[in-house]
Amino acid sequence: MSYGVERFFLLSYCLACCWPGLGAKSDLRLIREWTELEFAFPSEAARQSALNNKHYVEGNSVPIDVDVHHRQGDEPSRIFVTLPRFDEGRPVTLGTIDEQGRIAGYPDYSWNANQGRNCNGLTSVFRVAIDKCNRIWVMDTGKIGDTQHCPPQLLAFSLANDQLIFRHKVNESNFVSSSLFVTPVVDIPNNREGDCSNTFVYVADVTGFGLLVVDVDNNRSWRVSHRLFFPFPNRGTFTIDGESFELMDGVLGMALSPYRHGRDRYLYFHALASTTENVVRTSVLRNDSFIDEPNAQPQAINVFPEERPNQSAAEAIDRNGVMFFGLMDPPSIWCWNTATEFSQRNFHRVALNKETLQFASGVKVVNNLKGEQELWVLTSSFQRVMTGSLDSNRVNYRIHAEKIPRLLNNSPCKYSPKDRSHGYHANLITPVLKLRHSFKYGAVSYL
Ligand SMILES: *[C@@H]1O[C@H](CO)[C@@H](O)[C@H](O)[C@H]1NC(C)=O
Ligand SMILES: *[C@@H]1O[C@H](CO)[C@@H](O)[C@H](O)[C@H]1NC(C)=O
Ligand SMILES: *[C@@H]1O[C@H](CO)[C@@H](O)[C@H](O)[C@H]1NC(C)=O
Ligand SMILES: *[C@@H]1O[C@H](CO)[C@@H](O)[C@H](O)[C@H]1NC(C)=O
Repeated sequence: MSYGVERFFLLSYCLACCWPGLGAKSDLRLIREWTELEFAFPSEAARQSALNNKHYVEGNSVPIDVDVHHRQGDEPSRIFVTLPRFDEGRPVTLGTIDEQGRIAGYPDYSWNANQGRNCNGLTSVFRVAIDKCNRIWVMDTGKIGDTQHCPPQLLAFSLANDQLIFRHKVNESNFVSSSLFVTPVVDIPNNREGDCSNTFVYVADVTGFGLLVVDVDNNRSWRVSHRLFFPFPNRGTFTIDGESFELMDGVLGMALSPYRHGRDRYLYFHALASTTENVVRTSVLRNDSFIDEPNAQPQAINVFPEERPNQSAAEAIDRNGVMFFGLMDPPSIWCWNTATEFSQRNFHRVALNKETLQFASGVKVVNNLKGEQELWVLTSSFQRVMTGSLDSNRVNYRIHAEKIPRLLNNSPCKYSPKDRSHGYHANLITPVLKLRHSFKYGAVSYL
């Protein structure tokens, strides 16, 4: 019995790369693919009711994120997917994939079936994060389309029994009407085995252009503002497979550097409509002086001097400090060793496929039970979602995975320069500042 990506490996690698029109091969294994998503409803009556109320419109659901929970013993591993409700007709917003490839609501259907009428359930989820303490963190935007039905909330479920173990409702002082909390990353600053105290969750506000910091132990949060959370107008046009759309999304891709004893971790992040990468020390974010002044530390958040060749959505960093990210054009997945300069000469291609690797909106590093790390990627023909040209004869959504040692087998990303470990360049651009003079900019600081 194997406890990793092999368990899900359905389609033969060769079949996928010999398929006509698929272009270059991908070194990621294809785990699941869908033309349209299908759902496992608890009953035929529930399915009918969802159809009648337009809570289920076939073909409307778009998956954005993926995460995986490998389980001991005979229990099958679980693949989680999120289906944000940026439009109507999505019966489930957080689910797991069953044997038939259908999506079943998590922790159950009733949590998902509220459609904004019960703020104790889930309203709309873009991304999730699984931590080393066997918890899944779920960021619920509270919005369907542009309507804020419920306050945003951060939830944690125990993966051992799927019970709710934490809920933080975001106070209205910490979000704005345009806010959309899309990407949570979990930081447990102390690395002692079994010690889950002092957890912080950093959440990207993609259209409120900020960061939410949730102090889990104290059930409180604050907002961080900075110009680098904003999009760049000249990067707001996306072209994938010849189709273009415009999206002025701010901070979206986020990843934490690995834990190192006695050192601060770094939060790497970038706006969707950008080609830059930014970094901040997490100790800066955990300072609660942001409660009084969201733009308290303008000099502590910095951008690398060089840029990507194209825009990128999600990103993730493995235990050795190697970052993985997708590029829009050409559709591909890349690695960058964070011990090297953030520069195109240090970006190395992991997989390229113009059909199957479009718009990587979910990128995760997953630990399997053998202690290996795996890269999981969810891709979609998001350009067809945005331009309203989804084709029910084509595969629109895919989940890919591969073990990281295999992916990096011949990759220069494996090697750090002599005497440099990950975070070397992040450290150079984020000096520990002594003197701080506060200054303000723009309108966001006052909201
Ligand atoms: C945190 O506070 C909210 C109210 O803002 C409450 O509903 C929730 O139960 C609290 N969570 C914990 C873990 O105490
Ligand atoms: C919550 O928001 C309200 C209105 O903006 C504000 O008056 C209050 O102080 C905030 N509460 C906390 C705990 O931040
Ligand atoms: C927190 O931030 C404030 C102001 O931005 C600063 O004066 C203070 O030294 C910081 N605290 C820590 C522990 O870094
Ligand atoms: C992305 O790449 C394409 C083709 O290489 C190029 O035409 C486009 O300008 C790039 N976009 C950005 C934002 O750099």
